[in-house]
Amino acid sequence: GMFYCLSTTAGLQAALGTLSPATTLGFVPTMGALHGGHVALIQRARQECDVVVVSIFVNPLQFGPQEDLERYPRTLEADTRLCQELGVDVLFVPDVAELYPRGMETLTLVEPPRELTERLCGRSRPGHFRGVATVVLKLLHLVQPDRAYFGQKDAQQLAIIRRCVADLNLEVEIIACPIVRDADGLALSSRNQYLSEGDRATALALSQSLEIATAAFRQGCFTASDLLAPIHNHLRQFPQLRLDYAELVHPQTLVPLERIETVGLLAIAGWVGQTRLIDNCLLDRR
Ligand code: PAJ
Repeated sequence: GMFYCLSTTAGLQAALGTLSPATTLGFVPTMGALHGGHVALIQRARQECDVVVVSIFVNPLQFGPQEDLERYPRTLEADTRLCQELGVDVLFVPDVAELYPRGMETLTLVEPPRELTERLCGRSRPGHFRGVATVVLKLLHLVQPDRAYFGQKDAQQLAIIRRCVADLNLEVEIIACPIVRDADGLALSSRNQYLSEGDRATALALSQSLEIATAAFRQGCFTASDLLAPIHNHLRQFPQLRLDYAELVHPQTLVPLERIETVGLLAIAGWVGQTRLIDNCLLDRR
């Protein structure tokens, strides 16, 4: 079919306004620099929906003043080609002035509950999840999809978006997709481009430590201490990795768990040089 690449909200809404009400609309929000993780989301949407909308927007509202907004990879040409190859119907690529025409200082914000934002990544990224929630809610209102696709890779983001959608009574169904990894286990991320060869070896400690904990879980270890000890043990060999946190929490509420009764999320984050990396795994006894 046709491929539309649109940069205005008016253009987007005009294009989507022509769809029959019976059309199932799938939406994949991204910040671009598309990789295999994004591709998996788009392919899933393509399988399940009649029309697929992808957005690419590097959202300044979710970057801290010391973070990588300026150097965040931007590869719009390759991204556009890839979307076209994957059968995306509409690519939405607004600029900052289009989504924030009155600036970001006096914006109506979506403030997710503190119990979800003040844990895990939220502790070292104040305001980050408010920025994510605000832009995702804006995009969901613009696109009005039946289903929106998110990666399990950003488990806290997923939990927060699920909660905002429920609290604000959006009708969209949030679909979580598994983490896509490189052959060596490293979770795909646009930020992996920042890593040197040596950095990459250090970064691998994250997924390796989760693998070790998962093996312990399969052997019957269900307590936080039994699952986190092998992680810290493994990470001790990598002094170049500056650990932010390793925690066992409930995947929806993000409340720390002392023990997995049904399901737990093992989440880990750290810095390799200037690059912040995250990874996680779901441990399910059901
Ligand atoms: P971005 O980092 O571009 O990620 C877009 C989507 O791809 C997110 O749902 C993310 O969880 C998913 N994703 C990234 N890496 C993945 C991997 N290795 N496996 C599976 N899924 C993966 O997340 C954002 O953008 C932004 O915060 C956004 C939601 C677009 C709001 O600005």
